Amino acid sequence: MGDPHLSFGVPDKKMDKFSKAWKGHEEKIRRNWLAMVRESDTVVLAGDFSWGRDLEECGPDFDFIGKLPGRKILIRGNHDMFWDAKKTPALNALFEGQFFFLQDNFAAYEDYALVGTKGICFENLTSFEQFRKLQKRETERLRTSFEAAKAAGYRKFIVFLHYPPTSSIWPATHELCEALGMSRREEASIRRQEQEVLRQHGGRDIGHNPVIDLHALPPALLHQVMNVTEVLSSPFTRMAEEYGAEQVIYAHSHGKSRFHDSIHGELRGVRYQLVSGDYLDFKPFHVIG
Ligand SMILES: [Fe+2]
Ligand SMILES: [Fe+2]
Repeated sequence: MGDPHLSFGVPDKKMDKFSKAWKGHEEKIRRNWLAMVRESDTVVLAGDFSWGRDLEECGPDFDFIGKLPGRKILIRGNHDMFWDAKKTPALNALFEGQFFFLQDNFAAYEDYALVGTKGICFENLTSFEQFRKLQKRETERLRTSFEAAKAAGYRKFIVFLHYPPTSSIWPATHELCEALGMSRREEASIRRQEQEVLRQHGGRDIGHNPVIDLHALPPALLHQVMNVTEVLSSPFTRMAEEYGAEQVIYAHSHGKSRFHDSIHGELRGVRYQLVSGDYLDFKPFHVIG
């Protein structure tokens, strides 16, 4: 399950202001966890663990999850300020035997290697160049995780990402406008009306580029734009295919309007599953075993 978004150490960060799905969500997590998880089980928390800005503020959240049964593995989410990417080994030393922080390493589950990283999808919150930079770093981290598992002899993989593996919006590049059959004039007007287009296409917080909402396209058009966007294929899905991963588990998408931002079900031999907390109504998703 992803996105516990706990805030026992920072009570002003309650999630229930967002929607009623989050009302009493900590209690839902505790109740469902106790009903499903035994001490010998493994639970992966796929990012956005805590609103705390440092380990001290996250302390009560670690205590809350720590008291629940099972082995706990964490993936970094975009809100996990306590987790400096460079300090993963230090976190693993500090929480040894209680929590495992999965980044640039892997965890074994029977004959599977659980690999993963935060990942990234294009949300138009930064420039496209910045997105590419973050994506390159995250794909390198995922490869490090895969290679560590491979070197240890593992051949079966489950991938955990915080972000969806593909992007549901994409900058209105010339290639994309062309693939959508837009005339030069339409293409130019899309660029001129940046904010208007952003709103029209389901607006994402801050718009750095005029974007096209791919998620709203009919399936035939989706395939048409596949090669010039990352709606059905991305460096993350390609890496999962390359290593023969069985499943890609991802989180981060909150609210009904975002649940279908990425792939659900099987595609090119890999099974994709969204596990954001509110999507699951805070009931852990049974991955394997
Ligand atoms: Fe989240
Ligand atoms: Fe997130």
